[in-house]
Amino acid sequence: MATINSPAVKTFVVEHLDPELEDWSSLEYGAIASECHDAGAKFLLSSVPTSLKLPQNLQGARGLTVETRGIEEIYADRKDKVCLLDPAASKDLSPEDGNTFEIFLFGGILGDDPPRDRTSELRKKGYQGRRLGPVQMTTDTAVRVTRMVVHEKVPLGQVPYIDHPEIKVSENESTEMPFRYVIGKDGQPIMPPGMVDLIKKDSEKGLGDLL
Ligand SMILES: C[S@@+](CC[C@H](N)C(=O)[O-])C[C@H]1O[C@@H](n2cnc3c(N)ncnc32)[C@H](O)[C@@H]1O
Repeated sequence: MATINSPAVKTFVVEHLDPELEDWSSLEYGAIASECHDAGAKFLLSSVPTSLKLPQNLQGARGLTVETRGIEEIYADRKDKVCLLDPAASKDLSPEDGNTFEIFLFGGILGDDPPRDRTSELRKKGYQGRRLGPVQMTTDTAVRVTRMVVHEKVPLGQVPYIDHPEIKVSENESTEMPFRYVIGKDGQPIMPPGMVDLIKKDSEKGLGDLL
């Protein structure tokens, strides 16, 4: 239960910044929703255009609240409680940030290689920023790591991770993912359910078009 010393339940907000909602994003958002639900945290997907039809896996997903409004409108009176997870921030996230901030904000952006710094669209709104180390993560990984640090109080340096893992896409081929992932109990990078199959499917089409 939340007391004066254990700040209330955290809210993880992904501001959807792409015009469409690609299969990759829907798998990422689905994973964020179920993990936040299991951890007793809130997940808000904001700035979702009214014209956008949510994919099946997100319709009625446990732990997910969908908002058409953007972060600035939703939290107009609590700007100082919002922390933007920003690859360009000068300070890394620490467990103590869980005592300062209540809302953790992420860019709902498909990763790109090299990164185009689209997080700047949120940075210019003036929120305090924290970095999760120097390597680009997928959005679901960034939320997962933030939850580990501010909920479970694991220092960032103790989160087990792997950079640029290779995913076997066929008998003879593999694809290098240009991101940092958390390593799960099975020793493998944690990815949303269905993601490896999607990577295999997309690699047949040419992964270069999607990153
Ligand atoms: C896939 S990343 C997008 C990074 C990107 N290529 C860009 O244009 O900014 C999606 C979101 O995850 C968070 N994120 C990813 N890696 C991060 C890092 N190393 N430090 C802080 N936040 C990170 C940020 O909120 C970012 O907007």
